[in-house]
Amino acid sequence: MTKVLIATVKPFAAAAVDQIKSVLDKAGYESSFFERYSSQDELIKAVADADAMIVRSDKITPEVINAAKNLKIVVRAGAGFDNVNLEAATTNNVVVMNTPGQNSNAVAELAIGMMIYQARNHFNGTSGTELKGKKLGIHAYGNVGRLVANIAKGFGMEIFAFDPFIPKEKMEAEGVTVCDTAEELYAASDYISLHIPANDKTKKSINYNLLSNMKDGGVVINTARKEVIDEIDLVTIMEEKTNFKYVSDIAPDNKDLLKDKFGIRVFFSPKKMGAQTAEANINAGIASANQIIAFLEKGDTTFKVN
Ligand code: 3PG
Repeated sequence: MTKVLIATVKPFAAAAVDQIKSVLDKAGYESSFFERYSSQDELIKAVADADAMIVRSDKITPEVINAAKNLKIVVRAGAGFDNVNLEAATTNNVVVMNTPGQNSNAVAELAIGMMIYQARNHFNGTSGTELKGKKLGIHAYGNVGRLVANIAKGFGMEIFAFDPFIPKEKMEAEGVTVCDTAEELYAASDYISLHIPANDKTKKSINYNLLSNMKDGGVVINTARKEVIDEIDLVTIMEEKTNFKYVSDIAPDNKDLLKDKFGIRVFFSPKKMGAQTAEANINAGIASANQIIAFLEKGDTTFKVN
């Protein structure tokens, strides 16, 4: 029997678990939910007889892939696949896929929620500001960036975007002012919402040079990846611009330093919360199960990333 291991340190919502199981049951596959594990060694043991895996931000290292002798496919139930070692997967003939768009709305809603939370001083009772009339810079206009733009329009924000991979006309047609460089975007915006992936080109790319383009009262909202920020440069900017703020979904490596130094000017969620909704879990989980079935039964490689 084909065995699908659903390995999630951060488990899917119960409703998603039921629905993933039901899709796999119908295909005649065995599903094994391996949740809240605490070490790579446990994962290495659990994966030994798996034919397929569904994961979230779980670290799929070369050791995990090498230990999974029957493994044919790993589906990352989500957008970013920086947690999966693609080289090891390819060497071992393991297909890696993601499920683009399936959890985007949840992340977009969190980005807006974080903007409001910061604008209202963490709901501490003091007088804050409104989003209406403010300039929002979307850094990367993919599935999430586009949804953030759409929701923010409803708040009366003015939308700017920078994305060299999306045709300018497409963004303009959606009422967005297109910036030709990231520097231009940061200079134009009161708020920046980050939606770039973490890869060799983007890691630490949100650095002093870029952030220095923002106004003193600028706010950066990071629902992308902590690795894209140069944290040391961030500290310098926040020292120089004494009203600059940084809100991130997943704590930076230097969270204690940032909190001690800047107090209410920073906020970090304890765990990555962006895709933590029942809807996002159901959408991404079911898509993952269906993609595994389509690949194993028909060789369908849509959404393959390696
Ligand atoms: C993604 O890349 O899809 C998001 O960061 C969600 O990650 P998560 O599944 O670990 O919540």
